[in-house]
Amino acid sequence: MTVTPLVSFEGVAKRFGEIAAVDGVSLDIAEGEFFALLGPSGCGKTTLMRMLAGFEAPDAGRIRLSGQDIAGLPPHRRPSSMMFQTYALFPHLNVEQNVGFGLKQQGWDKARAAARVEEMLRLVRLEGLNRRKPSQLSGGQKQRVALARALAVQPRILLLDEPLAALDRRLREETQLELKAIQRQLGMTFMIVTHDQDEAMVVADRIAVMREGQIAQIGAPREVYERPASRYVAEFLGEANLFPDGAGFRLVRPERMTISPTAAPDALAGEVTEIAYLGDRTRYVVRRAQGRPLLVSRANQGPPLAFAVGDKAWVSYPPDAAVALPS
Ligand SMILES: Nc1ncnc2c1ncn2[C@@H]1O[C@H](COP(=O)(O)OP(=O)(O)OP(=O)(O)O)[C@@H](O)[C@H]1O
Ligand SMILES: [Mg+2]
Repeated sequence: MTVTPLVSFEGVAKRFGEIAAVDGVSLDIAEGEFFALLGPSGCGKTTLMRMLAGFEAPDAGRIRLSGQDIAGLPPHRRPSSMMFQTYALFPHLNVEQNVGFGLKQQGWDKARAAARVEEMLRLVRLEGLNRRKPSQLSGGQKQRVALARALAVQPRILLLDEPLAALDRRLREETQLELKAIQRQLGMTFMIVTHDQDEAMVVADRIAVMREGQIAQIGAPREVYERPASRYVAEFLGEANLFPDGAGFRLVRPERMTISPTAAPDALAGEVTEIAYLGDRTRYVVRRAQGRPLLVSRANQGPPLAFAVGDKAWVSYPPDAAVALPS
């Protein structure tokens, strides 16, 4: 049995003059999935999302929703709701008017709309702030109002373009977990755009890693991190030790490396040039006579290692830690 995906991009392309912003993207998003588009600035994430929302028309390819081509549908007739990086709240409307805006447009009956607004404010934990204006809210609260407004209209898919970029790190990390919890609770399909690999890994069921308008790899967070398909994906998703191997590379993640003050067969010898204590782990940089410096990440449990900068060190990894990369 094949299940029709909720969203399906098929060979989608979009140019702006000389720039191929999106260059032949095919991917499916399942109903109920939390899907992330991840990639560096300018790789085409927003453009791809805007084509799904209907703000931009593809030059080639098809976008289907539950199997139906949505090419001709204007944004307001698409069952998607987009939340932008700048929350774009209406400054003259208070919280409940902002959250209820789409419902009013859709002609919801007043009592039903009011109940829906209350439900949304509970969901994002903003009960009681109904009469505040956006200027009287913190950044995190504005972000919640925008989320409540986007969800109020019961979209089939919620599109989030860098929704947490304006929040400070701590609030951003908390909000990532909350977004994930809300998505799970509602059983809804979310698509998020981000250039932050940690954010993508925290929230998403699957990640599409983009490069220059194309998909470099799609997979679950663990898959793309532990089994990247290319050097580009390996390096974009975290720190990587890369050893030249034939035409390609062997990848070993720093947390798979072991550092020791004593020599061992097959261990790589070097000198410790950096030690960074990071709370949950310690990160070592070991310089070798030749080749790139080795990166080692060691969980801080049990007694600490007695390394100092300048010490000799031997670094090794188990054979199963190495992943072959074509390029
Ligand atoms: N309306 C436009 N006119 C001309 N060029 C555009 C337009 N919109 C996007 N581009 C270009 O298309 C490319 C992809 O842009 P896009 O906004 O999709 O990237 P992005 O991955 O979202 O980047 P960021 O992480 O910085 O938001 C960029 O080179 C950008 O300059
Ligand atoms: Mg963007």
